[in-house]
Amino acid sequence: MTSKRVSIHGQWSSRVAFILAATGSAVGLGNIWKFPYITGENGGGTFVLVYLVCIALIGIPIMMAEILIGRRGRQSPINTMATLAHEEQRSRGWVALGWMGVIAGFLILSYYSVIAGWALSYVFRTASGAFIGVTADGVSSLFGALVSDPERLLAWHTIFLVMTMIVVSRGVKHGLESAVRYMMPALLFLLLMTVAYSMTTGHFMQGLAFLFTPGKITGQAILIAMGHAFFTLSLGMGAIMVYGSYLPRGMSITQATFMIAIADTVVALLAGMAIFPIVFANGLEPAAGPGLIFKTLPLAFGHMEAGTLVGTSFFILLVFAAWTSAISLIEPAVAWLVENWGLSRINAAVWVGIVTWLLGLGTIFSFNIWEDKTWSIPFLFENKNFFDTLDFLTANVMLPLGGLFIAIFAAWLMRDSSTRDELNTRETVYRLWHFLVKYVTPVAVIIVFLNVIGVIHLK
Ligand code: TRP
Repeated sequence: MTSKRVSIHGQWSSRVAFILAATGSAVGLGNIWKFPYITGENGGGTFVLVYLVCIALIGIPIMMAEILIGRRGRQSPINTMATLAHEEQRSRGWVALGWMGVIAGFLILSYYSVIAGWALSYVFRTASGAFIGVTADGVSSLFGALVSDPERLLAWHTIFLVMTMIVVSRGVKHGLESAVRYMMPALLFLLLMTVAYSMTTGHFMQGLAFLFTPGKITGQAILIAMGHAFFTLSLGMGAIMVYGSYLPRGMSITQATFMIAIADTVVALLAGMAIFPIVFANGLEPAAGPGLIFKTLPLAFGHMEAGTLVGTSFFILLVFAAWTSAISLIEPAVAWLVENWGLSRINAAVWVGIVTWLLGLGTIFSFNIWEDKTWSIPFLFENKNFFDTLDFLTANVMLPLGGLFIAIFAAWLMRDSSTRDELNTRETVYRLWHFLVKYVTPVAVIIVFLNVIGVIHLK
């Protein structure tokens, strides 16, 4: 039984358009800002290894499941879940999965926009020549001055969010294609130039060793590595699902998924290779936290040939990468508002923009006036402020949970004939995928969760 539904929001113009948009969603702050700093905080090598295993065994199968579900349902994740649950004769309660995704999208975008605002401010910083010949202390104090000033953070957060809502209101299919087609290769090129600079620091091998030599790891770090696999591939909340709902039939989901996952992983590893040699060459702390790239990359740009140009372009492209990710975070909510409330895209974008903007205030204050307002949840985390809590709850709890339910729905509750028809691939590939989402993915997610709350002991 083939689904003949069409999306009321239109569809991608080609397979390449979909791959570009989904890659635009995947590659973002997660790769360049978050991956290096959480790798630094969690000890390097083993963390990277666990992350790569999670991409392969959990991320790729779940991405295929999300695209497949989205294309079959052809609506916002909330309505897609309602339609498919009905079609597969399952409980209507599955719409809760769509809802959790919409909430996660709001929460993530609220802090994503604040961090993207940092990148935006660094475009102008770098262009002004502020980093030429600067010292490590100088770069750190410039960063400290930025984040300790709520008004500046608010201004940049507002600008980035307005940029995002403008694209969202026009419909994600317009302009995204060309933005990603040219910006991604350019970002890759500048990242390679930064890696080339890092090779000249005399600490390149030390950086590589940090990234790739296994060491000790904690249960908490395993959870963070898995959570990041979801975050970096934009999985577990319906972003890729809604992009899948615009995908024409007959295009290979498997191939697209591999291309997206490989591009995403390459960018993250290159970012690590660019940043850690600079960390060691300047006696900086790998565990410096969310400020890591803003304390290291300016050193490279301040000392390399044509660094002002390279650095300015780099931060511009980083903003673009964040932009193409941010719009996917809110697309499930916007699609739902259009479908169920009959709002125009513009009105929907205004409303979600206002809510996200307000939520973002919490993250802004987490770096200054609320910095020390922390709390703990037994078994889960200790002493986290607003931003850290938001990050933990979304990336490490909501996304893996969303992914777990997506896997259960696709492999246990959808009929074999539905998934086989929608995936439309070679039988061996189908069988392998089905085995992974049916057993490996759910079991892995559950084990990591149980391990963190101490029910079982992986280590
Ligand atoms: N993947 C993006 C990044 O790495 C962030 C992102 C966009 C995201 N859409 C998402 C994360 C959906 C989780 C879910 O920067």
